[in-house]
Amino acid sequence: MTRKEQIRSAYKLTGGHAGFYDGMMTCSTLPGKAICRLVWNMDREKNLRYVEQALSGVPEDFSGRLLEVPVGTGVLTMPVYRELPKADVTCLDYSAAMMAAARRRAEAAGITNITFCQGDVGALPFADESFDLVLSLNSFHAFPDKEAAWRETYRVLKPGGVFCGCFYIRGGCARTDWFIRHLYVRKGFFTPPFETENSLRERLQGMYRQVDVTGVEGIGCFRCRK
Ligand SMILES: C[S@@+](CC[C@H](N)C(=O)[O-])C[C@H]1O[C@@H](n2cnc3c(N)ncnc32)[C@H](O)[C@@H]1O
Repeated sequence: MTRKEQIRSAYKLTGGHAGFYDGMMTCSTLPGKAICRLVWNMDREKNLRYVEQALSGVPEDFSGRLLEVPVGTGVLTMPVYRELPKADVTCLDYSAAMMAAARRRAEAAGITNITFCQGDVGALPFADESFDLVLSLNSFHAFPDKEAAWRETYRVLKPGGVFCGCFYIRGGCARTDWFIRHLYVRKGFFTPPFETENSLRERLQGMYRQVDVTGVEGIGCFRCRK
């Protein structure tokens, strides 16, 4: 299965009975599609495009140690891990409830090479330089202590390892910026300060090499090497 097919299968896996959160992340239910359109100015194709870009640092035959932080419900990544039987995957999240959903999804898909771990991205319970790849989807905008998250994701990555993912960036879509400022921040869903596409590129260039940053509306996708 190609990467695009794997990501598309996330939509199929959730289908009509997806919860609100999964529907929103996959742009696949009526409320999910409405939020994608209204807040993010995205349809399924744009949604698919940003997820594909965010995952582009994960080779299709990856076989090393991969850390996903935070995994959430695993809706976007379990279809990918299903096709990486030689990888040694660790999934971490702060929320036991979100991770329980990811665990159920992994079990349902018959994936056995994942370890789940509850923890804080700002104090990762792993040794220095212990992962070949660190993946972080849709989350840096939510972390209250972003500097600790940048530090910790860097610390646990091996030299030569890949760091990739995506999150909200300011300045990519005016409508998204409005919703984030007036709703998401006030409700505590997202925590400023937020990167722009340029500031994200500059930050990553200061820490990593082979930095690639692309924006899809208000989402910045990145891939770089330590
Ligand atoms: C928007 S979800 C994204 C989840 C997943 N990566 C995805 O794309 O579906 C944000 C996740 O971050 C987790 N989270 C928030 N703060 C965290 C922290 N300090 N350490 C670990 N996880 C955290 C939440 O529990 C939640 O599952």
